[in-house]
Amino acid sequence: MLDIPSESFQEIIEGKTKLLVPKGSITEKVPPKEPAFFNPKAKLNRDFSIIAYAAFIEKFQGPKIFLEGLAGIGARGLRVANELKIDNLVINDLNPTALKMAEYSANLNGIKNVEFTEKEVCRFFSSYSKKGQRGSIVDIDPFGSPAAFFDCGIRATMHGGILSTAATDLQVLNGLFQSACKRKYGGIPIRVEYGNEMAIRLVLGCLRVVAARLGVEVKPMFVESDMHYYRTYVKVLNRPDQEENIGYILHCKNCGYRKISFEQKQECELCKLKIGIAGPLWIGKIFDKDFLKDMLIQISNLQVDKVCEKTLNKCLLEAEMPPTYYTLDEIAKKMKTSPPKLEDVIENLQKNGFVASVTSFNPTGFRTNAKINKIIEIFQLSSKA
Ligand SMILES: C[S@@+](CC[C@H](N)C(=O)[O-])C[C@H]1O[C@@H](n2cnc3c(N)ncnc32)[C@H](O)[C@@H]1O
Ligand SMILES: [Zn+2]
Repeated sequence: MLDIPSESFQEIIEGKTKLLVPKGSITEKVPPKEPAFFNPKAKLNRDFSIIAYAAFIEKFQGPKIFLEGLAGIGARGLRVANELKIDNLVINDLNPTALKMAEYSANLNGIKNVEFTEKEVCRFFSSYSKKGQRGSIVDIDPFGSPAAFFDCGIRATMHGGILSTAATDLQVLNGLFQSACKRKYGGIPIRVEYGNEMAIRLVLGCLRVVAARLGVEVKPMFVESDMHYYRTYVKVLNRPDQEENIGYILHCKNCGYRKISFEQKQECELCKLKIGIAGPLWIGKIFDKDFLKDMLIQISNLQVDKVCEKTLNKCLLEAEMPPTYYTLDEIAKKMKTSPPKLEDVIENLQKNGFVASVTSFNPTGFRTNAKINKIIEIFQLSSKA
C-alpha cells in the first residue's frame, strides 16, 4: 500500500467508489488546491459524466479507453473504471500528491486497468494522438478556461469518441470581460437572461472552429451547467464538418426580441432599435435526442443523484426546440405583472400553435418559437386564467 499520512486525508464514497480526499476539501468552504484539489460539490457533474459515458460505452464498438488529462485525485476517472465497463483508464495530473492519492484510491477499489502519468496536459494528450492510441473518452477539466486544451484534446480523441470539457471561467463567458472572451473563445457574449446557454454556445463554437481546422467534426451530445461550471460532451468524427453551425445570437435589449442568424444585423426586426450581437458562437443543436434517451435508460443501473433524471427529462423535451429561452421573470417584468405558472404559459403557447417546452438551463425558463410580442399576448391570457 502507498504511504499516505492519515491525519490530513480521509476516505469517502462517491457513487459506488471509495476515494481518498484531502480533509480540507470536505471542511473548507472553497476546496483548497493544496495538497490536492477535490471538490465534493462537483459530485453532480461527475454523476452526469458517469451517465453520459455509460450511454456512450453501451453503443460504442471500439476500445473503451478513458484519458483523463486533468484528473486531480482521479475522482471522475476512478468512478468510470469502477462503475462502468472500460478497458483502460489513464489518469494524468501535474500534481504528484494528487496522483499518489489516485493510486491509493485505485487500490482501495481494486482497480487494475489504470495507469498514472505526471505530464503537462497537452504533452499527455499528444502522447496519445496517434492512430490506434487515441482515447474513446477524453476529459478536459481544468481550473478556468478549457480552450487552450481543445486542440490537443481533439487530437487525442478517436473517431466516434466522446470529448467532454468543463469551463469555470464564468465571468469571461458571461460577458463581464468581453475582450477576454473574444481572445479565449473567439466570440463575444452579451449579458442576457439565458447567459448560461450563451456561454455553452461560445464553448461549443470554439470547439467547432478548432475541430474544423483539424479536419474533424464535433457533434454536441449533451451539455449541462450550474452556478459554477459549464460542461459539454461532443462526439468527435473524423470527417470535415459540412454543416455551418457557427453564427450569432441577435438580442434586442429594448423589446426582448432575439433570433439566431448566420449574419450580423444592426437593427431589431420588431422595434427597429439597435440590436445586440453575441458571437460568433455555436447555433446548431446542443442535445442529441437519441443520446439523451440512452442516458435515461442507463440511470437505473447506476448510483447517481435523483436530480439527474429530472434534468435529463427536461433536456429531452427541449432537445429539438429553438435556441435561447425566456424566463417568467423577464416577461413579467416587461408587463409589470406577477409571473403566471410555467405550465400555463407552455400550454397556452402550444394551444396557440407554437412549439414550447421547459429548459434544463433554468427552472423558470421556457423555449418557444413564438416571438416576444406573441409571448406577451399569451402571457396576458395565462395571467387571467
Ligand atoms: C479542476 S481540477 C480537476 C478535478 C477532477 N477532474 C475531478 O473531477 O475531481 C484541475 C486539475 O488540473 C491540474 N492541472 C492544472 N494545470 C495542469 C496542466 N497544465 N497539466 C496537467 N494538470 C494540470 C491541477 O493539478 C488539478 O488537479
Ligand atoms: Zn427590439
